[in-house]
Amino acid sequence: MPLSFSLTHAAPASLETPLLAIVLPSDVSWGDASWQTILAPVDALLHGTLSRSLTRRDFRGGRDETLLLAGGETGVQRVLLVGRGTASLSRSVARRAAAVAARAANKLGVAGMTYWLPGVEGDVAAIEGLAIGAAAGTWQYAELLTPPAEKDRRARVESVVLVTADSDAARGALAAGEALAAGQDLAKRLGQMPGNYCTPETFVEVGRELASRHGMHLTVMGRSDMAEAGMGSFLSVAQGTSQEPRLVVLEHRGGPADQQPVVLIGKGLCFDTGGISIKPAPEMEWMKFDMSGAGGVMGAMEAIGRLRLPVNVVGIVGSTTNMPSGEAVKPGDVVRASNGKTIEIINTDAEGRLVLADLLVYAKRFNPAVAIDAATLTGAIVIGLGHAAVGVFGPDKAVVDEVLAAGEAAGEPGWPLPMWDDYREQIKSDVADVKNTGGRAAGSITAALFLQEFVDGFPWVHLDVAGTAYSQADLGWIPRGPTGTPVGTFVEFVRARVS
Ligand code: BES
Ligand code: MN
Ligand code: ZN
Repeated sequence: MPLSFSLTHAAPASLETPLLAIVLPSDVSWGDASWQTILAPVDALLHGTLSRSLTRRDFRGGRDETLLLAGGETGVQRVLLVGRGTASLSRSVARRAAAVAARAANKLGVAGMTYWLPGVEGDVAAIEGLAIGAAAGTWQYAELLTPPAEKDRRARVESVVLVTADSDAARGALAAGEALAAGQDLAKRLGQMPGNYCTPETFVEVGRELASRHGMHLTVMGRSDMAEAGMGSFLSVAQGTSQEPRLVVLEHRGGPADQQPVVLIGKGLCFDTGGISIKPAPEMEWMKFDMSGAGGVMGAMEAIGRLRLPVNVVGIVGSTTNMPSGEAVKPGDVVRASNGKTIEIINTDAEGRLVLADLLVYAKRFNPAVAIDAATLTGAIVIGLGHAAVGVFGPDKAVVDEVLAAGEAAGEPGWPLPMWDDYREQIKSDVADVKNTGGRAAGSITAALFLQEFVDGFPWVHLDVAGTAYSQADLGWIPRGPTGTPVGTFVEFVRARVS
């Protein structure tokens, strides 16, 4: 169930709330007169436990630090001090603290909570961050779990109140935060769905639902449509599966009719076994996340639709599964993409780029102002950048910088990598125009260079989210599993183009 959010400008100490989360920086100190003034009413309510805890340094405001203080039977029933660390307040700092608090609230079993950022209540970026973080911290994929017996059940956070000045700006920020949260929720749900639940057909269903709710134009293609369009590259990946491969397009026409759209493109491999070049069994189950680029596009379209952004945005996802079979494409086969280029398939596990190739050719018909693709494309990006940064590629420095700024603002930082011609040697083929792998060296770069072969005449940026779209470890502020990346990057990029 989605969270219900509201704003209050009442004094925090006067609130009726199961839990008041007070987000504090690391320089908080009871010895500081201004902090004392701000926190005194709540301290009085708690009979001095707040001031004593701060004086004893039981709580120091460190990032992810929490301290629970018991409150009254009614009124403020619990106080959770939440640290936001030394970093200055930003959307991602607020998001992280809010998520930590929301996870703690769920563990306690409270149904509602209130956030308070003392002294900076009106910060709109922080308000957005709180809403996004509250949703992230309470997110779960429980559809396939048997609910616990009544006596073992705990309440979960359902309603969230933010303490802030009553202003249009605050209300707008909350609405924006909710829109982003909804987009990220969708991307995460699709990511966490097992491969037998999230299939290419799921993208059709989600596309249909988004199209009707947001008044977007929907196009759906199947195997025969793609064959007609000459998409031999995409179809070679789908050759081994009996499931219908799907190309789904959503058009958000929020801008003037003649405005060139931002085109978002996503790799939607509902499962990647590697195909005939099959992957080893250990950890193969994680390859259900190989649709995270496509999930990110759907999530971004959800957020953009909710925000009613006055810009034209087209979302394109290509979805299938990479399976071995008697019919599957095999190493050495040569296929032809829809721009006429021939591709020698060296490794059937380098399938994402084969799907994206035809999507990038298809994108041209929309006359993009810029196209950004996102894909869990290479294991090499995990080796190079780990889980902290999205790999960002593109021949045009200005748009790459624009995407990097969007990622920074979204709390999904990216890092640029080169696309020099020297690397291009690695993907030259003896029998075709290009081959689909360039060896182990610079694997993420040669993948990006392969994609570039299919980009014709529009600015383009490629995001390799293989290390960032999901996490195999609990990150503290969000649990193990999908992270919602790259929804934020996509949405911030589009929002920045609004003005
Ligand atoms: N989906 C994988 C990339 C991946 C690997 C994502 C690990 C997340 C974690 C992609 O389709 C793939 O298999 N890439 C190969 C390319 C290679 C064969 C050139 C890889 O990275 O090993
Ligand atoms: Mn693969
Ligand atoms: Zn893959």
